[in-house]
Amino acid sequence: SSENKESWGSRIGLILAMAGNAVGLGNFLRFPVQALQNGGGAFIIPYLVCFLLMGIPLLWAEWAMGRFGGKHGHHSTPFILDAMDKRRFWKYMGVFGIFTNVAVAAYYCYLESWTMSYVYHSVAGTFAPMSSEQVAAFFDSYVDVKTSTTGLPYEPIIFFVLCILLNTWILSKGLSGGVEKASKIGMPLLLIFGVFLAYKGVTLQAGEHGAQFSGLVGLNFLWTPQFDSLANPQVWLAAAGQIFFTLSVGMGTIQCYASYVRPKDDIALNAMSAGWMNEFVEVVLGSAILIPIAVGYLGIDKVIEMTKSGGLGLGFRTMPYLFQQWGAIVGAMAGVAFFGLLFFAGITSSLAMGTPWMGFLQDEFGWKRERAAWSFGLIVLVLGLPTVIFFQEGVFDEYDYWAGTVSLVVFALAESILFAWVFGMKKGWHEITQGADIEVPTVYRFIIKYITPALLLLVFLGAMFAPASGNWSEAIGLLFSGKGWALSDGAIFAKLFNQDIYRQIEVATDSATKD
Ligand code: PHE
Ligand code: NA
Repeated sequence: SSENKESWGSRIGLILAMAGNAVGLGNFLRFPVQALQNGGGAFIIPYLVCFLLMGIPLLWAEWAMGRFGGKHGHHSTPFILDAMDKRRFWKYMGVFGIFTNVAVAAYYCYLESWTMSYVYHSVAGTFAPMSSEQVAAFFDSYVDVKTSTTGLPYEPIIFFVLCILLNTWILSKGLSGGVEKASKIGMPLLLIFGVFLAYKGVTLQAGEHGAQFSGLVGLNFLWTPQFDSLANPQVWLAAAGQIFFTLSVGMGTIQCYASYVRPKDDIALNAMSAGWMNEFVEVVLGSAILIPIAVGYLGIDKVIEMTKSGGLGLGFRTMPYLFQQWGAIVGAMAGVAFFGLLFFAGITSSLAMGTPWMGFLQDEFGWKRERAAWSFGLIVLVLGLPTVIFFQEGVFDEYDYWAGTVSLVVFALAESILFAWVFGMKKGWHEITQGADIEVPTVYRFIIKYITPALLLLVFLGAMFAPASGNWSEAIGLLFSGKGWALSDGAIFAKLFNQDIYRQIEVATDSATKD
């Protein structure tokens, strides 16, 4: 049915590409901030449980679905899901697996473009003479396109466009000629930079180079488990959300990459290699850089305080100044390593986000790869510009919420039901284990069938109806005593029907009619 003859060049290339897909800005920017916002050691246990009970099962299911779809000549989720069950519903559900990627790519590429700019400024020595306030102010001014004073006019837009062009160009070279090559270069460099910075973070000494605390203070905060958090649904939601985002599950990218695996080739071990590599990078490197260094200089309270207002900027607002404390040369090296690492992590992920869209157009409309790649670049530019221009108004965060969080849960819930209950575990298990180079633990047959969908449903309902107090048992008590349900502003339900943005528009029109 399809002219789409892409394929992976080698097994190591496939694993690096899949690991590159998973390892992203989520590992180095989102994970530390989630951990800080959710109580450090209170976060880590739910996080690991979610990895074992939702992350791993979804990895296997998505790889299996992808390879299965590929056998039938399909490389995007509408048609992969359709190959698993003919009812229309699944095909439409599969559209999530294309559009979520495009929408996430729109704001993700913007974030990625900051890292390009910051590599440039680290090399150019922009940060060298700056005080800590100036470095923070530099970022605030950078993202304020209208008044951007960072030297180049419209600098954020220039780097955003450059970043999209680079992504598009690599994508137009195809899977083995573009994506795989980028991963083979990017992933090793990322690991080298990461190990260097983690070493600097962990060995940071109180009193040396102006640090107040040793790097271990931040690490201890993160790694001292607090078991009482297990009863806090809010923390569970955050942990589940992070597991989804970091593993790239519920997105459609894994299915797409896996659809180019040959029918008899292993997926069970490949899925684990890429998944565990992501976890290594996240819990080892991701926790040994930003938190130890930021906490070492600023203290835990200050850093937590800083994550309250837009966490993703934390690294940009603090690190360039802190690196300077290590001296001009080591400081510049650390800056290049840190933002370079972020750049490689980012680009190997945003490339992945382009492939479902391209696969769809190549398979179903017979588009050439180059044309499909450029159309992706164009749509990312169009969808992304609002996040650039209206960054201060919170458009970026809205994208992250709807595309980067809610959609993932909805899609993962649907596909896990399709896989385990409609396609069925008999066929599903066969797909996972066929050609497997490892013995897949049979308990996962049970987990994939019952535990994963049930947990996903809980996460979904929890996110949908989160109570204002954040206290579920109290809220349920109040409900049964007839006092109703006070929704949190952050609940999906509240956001859907009572959005701030509507309120703002109302206020604006109200005052207009009064004049
Ligand atoms: N997993 C990537 C990260 O941690 C993000 C991503 C999500 C990449 C979805 C591809 C698809 O940053
Ligand atoms: Na990740």
